[in-house]
Amino acid sequence: MVSKDLHTEIENILKKSLSLGVVGSAKDFYNWVIMDYELNSKKVPLIEENLIENILNDFLKQSFVTHGTFDPNEYIISENSPFYKKISSNDHYYIIGKANLSPIQYVRSRQISFLNQNNVSQDDIEEISIATTEAVENSVKYGDGEKVEISNFIENGKNFKLTMVNKIKEFDLQTEIDRGKYSSSITLMRGVLVMEKLFDKFDLILLDNNTQAMVQAEKKLK
Ligand SMILES: Nc1ncnc2c1ncn2[C@@H]1O[C@H](COP(=O)(O)OP(=O)(O)O)[C@@H](O)[C@H]1O
Ligand SMILES: [Mg+2]
Repeated sequence: MVSKDLHTEIENILKKSLSLGVVGSAKDFYNWVIMDYELNSKKVPLIEENLIENILNDFLKQSFVTHGTFDPNEYIISENSPFYKKISSNDHYYIIGKANLSPIQYVRSRQISFLNQNNVSQDDIEEISIATTEAVENSVKYGDGEKVEISNFIENGKNFKLTMVNKIKEFDLQTEIDRGKYSSSITLMRGVLVMEKLFDKFDLILLDNNTQAMVQAEKKLK
């Protein structure tokens, strides 16, 4: 059993996450609760996944959340939920770039909610989402596993801008060679090609003596 205070604290983290538009399974939300503690440099409490599932199922009973449209295992905030919040045209936040904390699902679902609330067309949403997933994947694969800074911005309702910054993990040349990165027979830089194709502007910039990478991308909205 967790204390009442801890239970309330976790409930509040879940409410906040849901109000930001993230969608996922109980396991994803469990990971994002841990992510929240790590982002705030707080000691991660010992909790089990079924605690998260129980809280989400309580929310479900009260109609604060519903099941995802495509995946019934997923939880999504309902529009009449008391913790439903209007999302603005500027969404700036941090994630922890560790693969086991479901960062891709976090960024993807939060971004889709953001774009929908800003009335972006489904075609644009699809393209932005695919390209952004490549960027998050890279920030997890090549980042140091700590904070990744993300900003989604819609300028004048017409121009979507994405920025993503991560510290770069110590470079392991042998691993890169083994992966075939320097072999001409393997298609290289697929992610970058996808992002260049789907965004109108795309730059991958090295900062701070090559210790940080920054993605800067833009897309004109239809
Ligand atoms: N966020 C990032 N941080 C550090 N390096 C990156 C980042 N994104 C891309 N890179 C570098 O650019 C290369 C090309 O990325 P990408 O086209 O996605 O190919 P892949 O991920 O398959 O290697 C990567 O191999 C990596 O060296
Ligand atoms: Mg990649």
